[in-house]
Amino acid sequence: MVQKLKETYRPQFHFSPEEKWLNDPNGMVYFNGEYHLFYQCHPFDTIWGPMHWGHAVSKDLIYWEHLPIALHPDENGTIFSGSAVVDWHNTSGFFDDQPGLVAIYTSNDTYPDSDRPRQRQSLAYSHDNGRTWEKYEGNPVLSDTTITDYRDPKVFWHNHTNKWIMILATGQSVTIYTSPNLKEWEFASEFGSKAGSHDGFWECPDLFQLPVDHDENNQRWVMVVSIGDTGEFIEGSRTQYFIGDFDGTTFVNHHDDETILWLDYGRDNYAGVSWSDIPDGDGRRIYIGWMSNWRYANQVPSKEWRGAMTLPRELSLSSSKNGIRIIQKPVSEISRLRKNSRFQHNITIEDSNPVCLALNNQLMEINIEIEKIDASKFDMILQNSKAEKTTISFDVEKETLVVDRTKAGEHSFSTSFPIIQEAPLKLKGNQIKIQMFIDASSIEVFANDGEIAITSLLFPSEELKELLLFSQDGRMKVTYLELTEISSIWE
Ligand code: FRU
Repeated sequence: MVQKLKETYRPQFHFSPEEKWLNDPNGMVYFNGEYHLFYQCHPFDTIWGPMHWGHAVSKDLIYWEHLPIALHPDENGTIFSGSAVVDWHNTSGFFDDQPGLVAIYTSNDTYPDSDRPRQRQSLAYSHDNGRTWEKYEGNPVLSDTTITDYRDPKVFWHNHTNKWIMILATGQSVTIYTSPNLKEWEFASEFGSKAGSHDGFWECPDLFQLPVDHDENNQRWVMVVSIGDTGEFIEGSRTQYFIGDFDGTTFVNHHDDETILWLDYGRDNYAGVSWSDIPDGDGRRIYIGWMSNWRYANQVPSKEWRGAMTLPRELSLSSSKNGIRIIQKPVSEISRLRKNSRFQHNITIEDSNPVCLALNNQLMEINIEIEKIDASKFDMILQNSKAEKTTISFDVEKETLVVDRTKAGEHSFSTSFPIIQEAPLKLKGNQIKIQMFIDASSIEVFANDGEIAITSLLFPSEELKELLLFSQDGRMKVTYLELTEISSIWE
């Protein structure tokens, strides 16, 4: 395999660009047997710069074929985030007898004779499964001189109204537009200026429908909105969501305006959106996020490339005492990468007697089920021979799950990096269930079957060697522990 893909910190089973800079996932669409993943990229540097759309395709969401840059800057500006759809019925007139792909993205430049940013929405189309693209000669198709932050169109077909819907980030709200043909857009409604978190400008919205508790007769609409980093809040950039209804024109939030629902409690899941046109028979809503944070994205210590995606995740809705919530799980295709597994059952962890397990591999999936006996806290420590360690703790009294990366490895590049990430988590009966994926520079933790996620970058300077299990103020029982080696996708 090409040596460069084995560099220190290089993700081995997460998507990363072969070289140079990556940020948001863009234009994800399934067409003719391929999952397309486009992404914000700067092909000439490892820091953010003039944006292009990089491109990769996969048949299984795990192994990716890297393709040439799909969209280059043009007379309307650089190519910011956006989406792609299959125009099945040639509503756009770009196609003849075969359906094709249309990308809807933000053209970013400045107003003539001024430095004021200008963001307008444009189209490109492809007749050859996304390998080559034509820009539409009528670009841009949507602009508004009164709004500066006017970007990241996510477009989908709405069956009931027979129209295309666009949801666009517009300052600290989203605006919904409709169109019969992708070229002419009409204002429908605005949502959110008073709802949810306004810790930063809104970016990269998504809107889709899902059944609640797998009941096809009970559907809700989910709106996902990323919130930019203003420098004011320690979390930096992060992602919230809303649950409600959508009638083709207006989104109605089912929560009160003050409720904030976070998609992920880690620092490193941003700008994520979902795949378009997954076939009905599959029925999954698959999401991927950018595994970084604007607070330090330009400084993280990788050299030849910078930026990676989360694992692709299947989203579903589940009702709970507090209302309906998103459940997220890595897609089942991940199991293709599983190699050797080791199992342990019913280990009692005594306060004074931690259990230490040697790790044979740096790339791992760990599944663990824990039963509380009388301890107040349970710690899992992943560490290497330099005593760099990441601690995942469950606090029984506080009802929290924590990922502490303060001592996880390299962090001199940003004072915002060495932090503790905390999520609310309750015992279920007397138990909790945790699933973790550990790659060369990240950990993704899912608890209680995807009720909460904590996604975090880590930069240990050498391989992890052991897993230590501790309990505090009493005993805990590990009823089930599975350590599975994960293969590299570059091999
Ligand atoms: C989100 C974002 C988008 C924008 C893109 C530019 O991370 O700021 O709003 O389109 O990145 O690269």
